[in-house]
Amino acid sequence: MSNEKRASFGGKLSAILVAAGSAIGLGSIWRFPYLAGEHGGAAFLLVYLLCVLIIAIPVMLCEFAVGRRTHKNAVGGFRQLSKPWQILGFNGILCALFISGYYYVIAGWSLDYLVNSINGSLYNSDISFAQQYAQFTASPWPIVYTLIFILLTHFIIARGVEKGIEKASNIMMPILFIILILMAIRVAFMPGAADGYRFFLTPDFAQAFSADTLFTAAGQAFFSLSVGMGCMVTYASYFNEKTNLIGTSLSVSLLTLFVATLAGLVIFPAVFSAGLEPTEGPSLIFITLPEIFKDMPLATVWSAIFFILIGLAALTSTISFHEVITAYLAEEHKMSRKAATYTTTAITIVLSLITLLVTFDFNFLGKQFTSTFDIYDYGSANILLPLGGLFTCIFVGWVMKPQFFREEITNYGKLPGKIVPFLFILVRYIAPILILYIFLKGIGIL
Ligand code: PHE
Repeated sequence: MSNEKRASFGGKLSAILVAAGSAIGLGSIWRFPYLAGEHGGAAFLLVYLLCVLIIAIPVMLCEFAVGRRTHKNAVGGFRQLSKPWQILGFNGILCALFISGYYYVIAGWSLDYLVNSINGSLYNSDISFAQQYAQFTASPWPIVYTLIFILLTHFIIARGVEKGIEKASNIMMPILFIILILMAIRVAFMPGAADGYRFFLTPDFAQAFSADTLFTAAGQAFFSLSVGMGCMVTYASYFNEKTNLIGTSLSVSLLTLFVATLAGLVIFPAVFSAGLEPTEGPSLIFITLPEIFKDMPLATVWSAIFFILIGLAALTSTISFHEVITAYLAEEHKMSRKAATYTTTAITIVLSLITLLVTFDFNFLGKQFTSTFDIYDYGSANILLPLGGLFTCIFVGWVMKPQFFREEITNYGKLPGKIVPFLFILVRYIAPILILYIFLKGIGIL
C-alpha cells in the first residue's frame, strides 16, 4: 500500500482527535466504573490516576516516537528501527485480536440498550433492570447486535475514515462531556447519593496499594489509553512533523481521565441511591444507568442519547484496533487495503462468536475464567498490554540512542526540550521498574 494513501488518514484529522477517539471508549465508561466498584472505589481511582501519569503517558510517548519516526504499522515500525524488536509489534497484533474478541460484544450491548430505549421497552417493563439485563444476555440478541457493531466498524474502515470520523468526533466528544456533566448534576439530587461520593472519593490506602488493586488499575491505565499494543504507533504513523507529542499525549490522557472520573461521579451515587452493589461487575452500567433515567422527564430521549454516545465512543475505539490489524495486513502482507479490511473483519466475527457462544469454567493464577471474554480481557489488559508497555520503554530507553527520543519529542529541536531528561528517566527507569514490579506482584511471583 502506498504511503500516500496512509498519510491521508492522518492528514485531515488532528492528532489529538484520533488518539482521544481511540482512548475514550468503553474502557472509561464501562470498564473503569465496574473495576472501581470491585476494588474499593476511591482506592482504585487514586492508583489508576498514578498509573496513567507515571506509566501510561511515558509508554504513549515512546509509541508516538516509534510511529511518527517510521510512518509504519506496529510491526513494520519496530522492525524498521531494529529487526528483533518487531516482536513487540506482533504482541500488539495479538493483543488487538484479544480485544476485538470481546469489545464488540459489549458495544453490542450498548446498541441493544439504545434500541430498547427508543422503543420504550427498557422503561415499560415490569421486571427490574438487573433482570432485564440477565434476560437480554441469555437471549440471541447479543449475537445480532455484536455483528451489527462489527459491520459498522468495517463500513467506516472500508470507506476511509477521514470526514466521517473527524466530524463525528468533533461533535460527539463535546456532547458526551456535556451529557455526562448533566447526568453528574442530576444524580447529585438522588437520595443516598452522598454514600456514592464517599465510596468513590475517600480512599482506603491499605486497599489502594494491595497487589490486586495495583495490578488491575495498571491494566486499566494501559487499556483506557490504548497503549502497550502499538495502537499509538499505528496512529502516530499518520502524524506529521509538526505534531507536538507531549501536548498530544497530555491532552489525550487528561480527556480520558476526565471522562472516567465523570463516569464514576455518575455511576456511584446512582448505585448507592438505587440500593445496588458497586461490585456488580461488567453489568454495572447497564443496570445503573437506566435507574438514573427512569424518573427523569423524557427518560427515553436522554437514555437514547446516552447510549448513542457510548456507541459512538466505542466506535472510535473499535476503529483503532481494527486499523492496527488492517494496517499490518496491508503493509506487511502486501494485501490490498480492501482485502486486509475484510480479513480483519472476518477474524473479528469468528472471535466474537466464540465469546458469545462458548462457556467453560477453570481457575488460573487464582482467577476464575468462565468464557473467552475473561481470557481476552485479562490476557489483554493484564498481560499483553503491560508486557508490551514494559518492552516499549526498554526499547526506546535502552536500545535506541537517547537522541531518538529527544528528536521526536522536540520535533528535532523545534520545541523546547527542558523536560526531556525528566521524561527520559521515566521511560528508562521509573515506568519499566514499576510495570515489572506490579506485573510480578499481580501474577503472584513476587
Ligand atoms: N482505549 C479503548 C477504550 O478505553 C480500548 C482500546 C485499547 C483501544 C487498546 C485500542 C487499543 O475503550
